[in-house]
Amino acid sequence: MSPPEPMPLTSATIRSGIPAVDRYLDTGYATVPGMSSRFAAAICCGLLRMQSEFGVTGPVAEVGSFEGRFFIALAHALAGGETALGIDLFDWPNPEVIDRFEANCLKHGVPVERRITWKADSRTMKPEDLLAKLGGRRPRFIHIDGEHSRAALSRDLELATSVLAPAGIIVLDDMLHPGYPTLMVAVHEYLGRHPDMCVLAIIDRETVVAATKFVLCRTEWFKRYEEKLLEAYKANVWPLGADFEPHWCLVLSLDTRLAEIV
Ligand SMILES: C[S@@+](CC[C@H](N)C(=O)[O-])C[C@H]1O[C@@H](n2cnc3c(N)ncnc32)[C@H](O)[C@@H]1O
Repeated sequence: MSPPEPMPLTSATIRSGIPAVDRYLDTGYATVPGMSSRFAAAICCGLLRMQSEFGVTGPVAEVGSFEGRFFIALAHALAGGETALGIDLFDWPNPEVIDRFEANCLKHGVPVERRITWKADSRTMKPEDLLAKLGGRRPRFIHIDGEHSRAALSRDLELATSVLAPAGIIVLDDMLHPGYPTLMVAVHEYLGRHPDMCVLAIIDRETVVAATKFVLCRTEWFKRYEEKLLEAYKANVWPLGADFEPHWCLVLSLDTRLAEIV
C-alpha cells in the first residue's frame, strides 16, 4: 500500500504565535474587505513576534491601509505601549472608506489609543513628518501597499528606508503580480541603491488578489531572522529558495512541491 498523500497546507493552519493575532485571523480577517493574504498576515505577525523576542521594539506603519484588514492584524501583534500608524488617501472607492476603517478597527479590538489614522499622500510625505506622527520613534515594521506604480513604489521604499529602525522590516505587497510587472524593476533598482538592504523572504501568493509579498531587512539582520523563520515555518519552505543574484532567500509557500521529473 502506498503511503497517504500529505495533507495540503491551508492558510488557516498557519499561526503567528500571538494569541490575539491568531484569534483575529480565525474569526475576523476574512470579514474585513482587503487584498492581503491570510498566509502573509500570519507570517508577518510571526515576524513581529520574533522581533519582540529579540527585544526589538517600536511602532508599525502601513502605507495603504484601506479598510484595515492587514492593519488590524499588525496592531494585534504590538507589545504594550506601541502604536500602529495607518496611512491612506482614504478617498477610494469613496470618502466613507475612512469611517469603515475606524469601525473595523473598533469592531476587531484595536482601540484609538493603539493606533493613529493618517489621511495623507505618501507621494509628498517627508520622513520628518512621518517620524513626527510617531513621536520620533522609528518603526520596526512597515507594510507598503499604496500606489502600485514603479515611481510610487520607489518613493515609498525610500521613505520607509529613511525612517526604519535598525532591525526594522519592510514588507512589499503585490510582488510578482501579473498586473504590476514594473514593481519588480523598482525593487531591483532599490536593492542596487541600498546594498545594506536585502530580501529576507518571499511569501508566496494565495490567489491573484491575495498576492506575493517580499520581506526586506538590513543585511546584518538577515541571518537572525532567517533562522527564526526556518524554525517557525519549516513546513512552508519551498526547497529551492529564491535567487536574487548573488543573494538567496527563503520562499515560504502553502505549496512546497517541486516539479516531478523522471
Ligand atoms: C490595495 S489597497 C490596500 C489594501 C490593504 N493594505 C489590505 O491589506 O487590505 C491600496 C490602498 O493604497 C491607497 N493609496 C494609493 N496611493 C496612495 C498614496 N499615494 N498615499 C497613501 N495611500 C495611497 C489607496 O487609497 C488604497 O486604499
